[in-house]
Amino acid sequence: MRPAGMSAGRFISFEGIDGSGKSTQSRLLAERLRAEGETVVLTREPGGSPGAEEIRALLVSGDPGRWSAETEILLFTAARRDHLERTIRPALDRGEIVITDRFADSTRVYQGVARADLRETVDALHDLMIGIEPDLTLILDADPERTMARGKGHARGEGRFEAMGLAFQQALRAGFRALAADELRCVLIDTNAGKEAAAEAIWQAVRERFG
Ligand code: TYD
Repeated sequence: MRPAGMSAGRFISFEGIDGSGKSTQSRLLAERLRAEGETVVLTREPGGSPGAEEIRALLVSGDPGRWSAETEILLFTAARRDHLERTIRPALDRGEIVITDRFADSTRVYQGVARADLRETVDALHDLMIGIEPDLTLILDADPERTMARGKGHARGEGRFEAMGLAFQQALRAGFRALAADELRCVLIDTNAGKEAAAEAIWQAVRERFG
């Protein structure tokens, strides 16, 4: 597997359950790095390129049973491939910092663990079609009882995965925690102490990893 670090740029991903605060924290980190003079591309999945944003619409809205877990793996991977070709790889080659709100770990946990026992399929397709990992992955740990009460996805008409229920969100949380324990590139961030404390823990993790 080719680490993103072989390019000139740096590749950082945010991961976590629905409503764990990834979009806020990825924006705060981008702002802080820009204030230090860095060039940052802030992006997201599913999406992050025009083609991948079109695929996103198919995935996040509609009936929870609309796609099987297998079909979802193919759609998320297709979107990721376009995102990689059009947005991530060019920015890394320019020596920039790429921050993405979700990447391959979301497929590993949502489709590989929580929806179905398909981790091997996810990994095989990842090796074939994507083949890169972030230099640093910040996994935001949050209590599903708290995040579901916010119902943010529903409010945007993008609640397909939230509609899978509390037990699903709990399985996701366990999956992300297991990943954080297994992978050296991952750092688990506690979000229960509030937004500012989480932002500070993230900044420390970034400084430790990149100096
Ligand atoms: P996102 O926009 O990050 O939603 P949220 O802000 O609620 O976290 O992601 C949309 C949904 O897609 C989210 O429920 C997680 C899901 N998803 C997967 O199931 N697999 C994947 O590979 C990705 C990238 C997202």
